[in-house]
Amino acid sequence: MSAPTPSPAMTNLRLSARFADVGFSEIVRIRNRVIELKAAGETVHQFEGGEPFFETPEPIKEAMRRALAENKTRYAPSSGIPPLIEALVEKVRRKNGIPAEPSEVVVAVGGMQGLYGAFNTLLDPGDEVLLLSPYWTPTRDLIHMTGGRAVCVETARIQAEGVDAALGARLTPRTRAILVNTPNNPTGQVLARADLEAIAEFAQRRDLVVVSDEAYEDLVYDGEHVSIASLPEMRARTISVYTLSKSYGMTGWRIGYAVAPEPFITGIKTSVLYSTNGVSTPTQWAALVALRDTPESFFAEQRAAYRQRRDRLIAGLNELGLPVSPAPGGAFYVFPDVASLGGASAEIALRLLDEARVATVPGTAFGCAGEGHLRLSYALSPEAIERGLEALRQYLARR
Ligand SMILES: Cc1ncc(COP(=O)(O)O)c(C=O)c1O
Repeated sequence: MSAPTPSPAMTNLRLSARFADVGFSEIVRIRNRVIELKAAGETVHQFEGGEPFFETPEPIKEAMRRALAENKTRYAPSSGIPPLIEALVEKVRRKNGIPAEPSEVVVAVGGMQGLYGAFNTLLDPGDEVLLLSPYWTPTRDLIHMTGGRAVCVETARIQAEGVDAALGARLTPRTRAILVNTPNNPTGQVLARADLEAIAEFAQRRDLVVVSDEAYEDLVYDGEHVSIASLPEMRARTISVYTLSKSYGMTGWRIGYAVAPEPFITGIKTSVLYSTNGVSTPTQWAALVALRDTPESFFAEQRAAYRQRRDRLIAGLNELGLPVSPAPGGAFYVFPDVASLGGASAEIALRLLDEARVATVPGTAFGCAGEGHLRLSYALSPEAIERGLEALRQYLARR
């Protein structure tokens, strides 16, 4: 007897319901168009990216070659090799003010897997996470993919109304956590200590967990980077997520880490175990050298280089009537107001790409507060920034 032919009524040929509201980001649409244009031999001014302008430093690459030569190529403990865990503990104690124990740190496949582990650990189906917008696009999709629901709160409302009113208005019995990302992608905004104290106080009063995405911790130009887990009483309810991607120019290496107390850290370690069974062993040995041998002066040099690029791009955009206000204090993005160009930000981004060969990301990719803005990265050479500004200037003059 032959097997029955599946009919549309046979509904097992489908994704799980968790994927119903999980997108491939809008950024991909722009990126695909950029690839097409470049394949056709066009020059594109690429402000759409999210990667450091410098290459991975040589000592880290050398450490990778050494690890391979020494056959450090077998399974490692899935939560991370002990010397790397020790180096990460030293770092979070010294730089982040988090007195973590080695058992409270897990090495992950980038900040992405740290965040995935955090939400996978925290969320039951239908649990809600307060997500300050503009937010880094994948955060929302990760929350949905792990069964939760992202509840968008405009960061500007926090400034206008205060934390209690802005977050309190979106609180429900299902609210489980708040996602905090400082410095922020896409706005570059750095939350001040007082803002974080207010969020911390709210989290304590409402018994919420904070997931703190600190991917850009080393890129703060004005003010200081404050890890919310270092504030009084916050360690017990904070999952802090870090990455080597931005600080060390290691986006393609796929390594980051999360720091959390029990019971969360066991959940994240389990999530790492059953998704990737850890980070590639030689990558971990190379990351150890990054952590141990990179002097603080390296980050200071990077910051100086980024600051110069930031100031140039902001000045250029302001001159063109695309205001960046307030000037972002961190990360490597600006989020100018482009309402003067007319239309929805997704249309503006496509128009700029097609007519000026300037690639940006539409603000709507970053949640409920993004419309009317574009994200531009200044992790480019100063010359590339000048050429892009010139292309914009000529485009605006033609309109
Ligand atoms: C805000 C933010 N968090 C986390 C990440 C994760 O980066 P990775 O997975 O490369 O560590 C990124 C990368 O763009 C980011 O912008």
